[in-house]
Amino acid sequence: MEAGNNLLLGVTGGIAAYKSVELARLFRKAGLNVRVVMTDAATRFVTPMTFQAITGEAVRVDLFDPMHEAAMGHIELARWADHFLIAPASADFLARMANGLADDLLSTLCLVSTAPVSVAPAMNVNMWKHAATRKNIELLADRGVRILGPAVGEQACGDSGPGRMPEAAEIVSALMYSSAEGVFGGKKVMLTAGPTREAVDPVRFISNRSSGRMGFALAEAFAREGAEVVLVSGPVSLDTPPGVERIDVVSAQQMHDAVFDNLSGVDLFVGCAAVADYRPEHPSGQKIKKNANRMELSLVRNPDILAEVAALDNGPFTFGFAAETGALEENAKAKLVGKGLHMIAANLVGEGLGFDVEENALQVLWPGGETKLPMQDKKSLARALVGIVAQQYSNHLHQQGGSV
Ligand code: CTP
Repeated sequence: MEAGNNLLLGVTGGIAAYKSVELARLFRKAGLNVRVVMTDAATRFVTPMTFQAITGEAVRVDLFDPMHEAAMGHIELARWADHFLIAPASADFLARMANGLADDLLSTLCLVSTAPVSVAPAMNVNMWKHAATRKNIELLADRGVRILGPAVGEQACGDSGPGRMPEAAEIVSALMYSSAEGVFGGKKVMLTAGPTREAVDPVRFISNRSSGRMGFALAEAFAREGAEVVLVSGPVSLDTPPGVERIDVVSAQQMHDAVFDNLSGVDLFVGCAAVADYRPEHPSGQKIKKNANRMELSLVRNPDILAEVAALDNGPFTFGFAAETGALEENAKAKLVGKGLHMIAANLVGEGLGFDVEENALQVLWPGGETKLPMQDKKSLARALVGIVAQQYSNHLHQQGGSV
């Protein structure tokens, strides 16, 4: 969005509605025309008069209000909007939106409008984690709705975790100070994902438990933010996310070659693959027979793809992962510094942890800072990570004198 655009701000019923007053003020200050539509429940938290005073425009609540409908009918109001933002978006409203209900003014406008829609969910952490909400969010995201947040932290109800509406300034910068196509519009992102397989003989290999889910979710999240995405994937059984170019490889050496053959023009490199560190030195051309009682396998080191990319002169912004069974922060810091990365996400792996599971928790570190992302499904985690990458990448470019 840019100054002069028309923003329709939908406010639904939640305590975070108070933050939307500041949101409306900041959008006005940034030169947008802002009209507010509130759900009935939202008016219990903040009065329409507050938004009216801030925006200088009448606030609408009721679909069947003859006076307002005479001034600007709801279809006209939907057409007026260049962008729709629902903030806060309650669990109930997300459910209604996902199901295409049109039982009040705001939900009706969502169906009428063809403008891009963003939502800033805000709710209790358990409501956010509930399978019903997860499904609604996935449905909306699949339909192209941009999901802003939620942020993680203390909640009004006393719980802690994901569910807070992002701060007003963060929402404004996400919607206004990124390119029209998304935060990573015009940027090329390359990711590695999944395991690699190192052949022992034509039928056997050494590999690991990586499912590729985190890398694929990240590829999808970057694509949704407008990036051109190249995903170099080891053997996984996952569908390619929409708009993502996929290069399939098997071994670490093939992954290495695919990365370096396609690295030109890449702005960000994300090493999410669980690359086998070693490969059999002399893979047998024939199936190995069990003739002997003992067998020894000699292994040699594979190239460290991420470290090699990070070592390039004028190379891309590099973001890696650290899978650890202990001393998480210490090991992750050592990898951040040792490989010369801009950012690293560390997680504990082991039985039922990290690899081949639906959920994960991450500790994200960069030189001089860190944050924790609590246990959540990998798609939400990917969206949160992409937000952190956007911030770190923007800082990185500013240090180099450019901009996102
Ligand atoms: N990585 C890579 N190439 C390798 C090994 C790792 O690109 N040959 C990348 C992974 O994609 C990940 C990061 O490096 O982003 C860390 O991988 P990890 O296995 O946790 O660490 P290693 O560097 O292999 O160290 P170690 O196995 O000793 O813990």
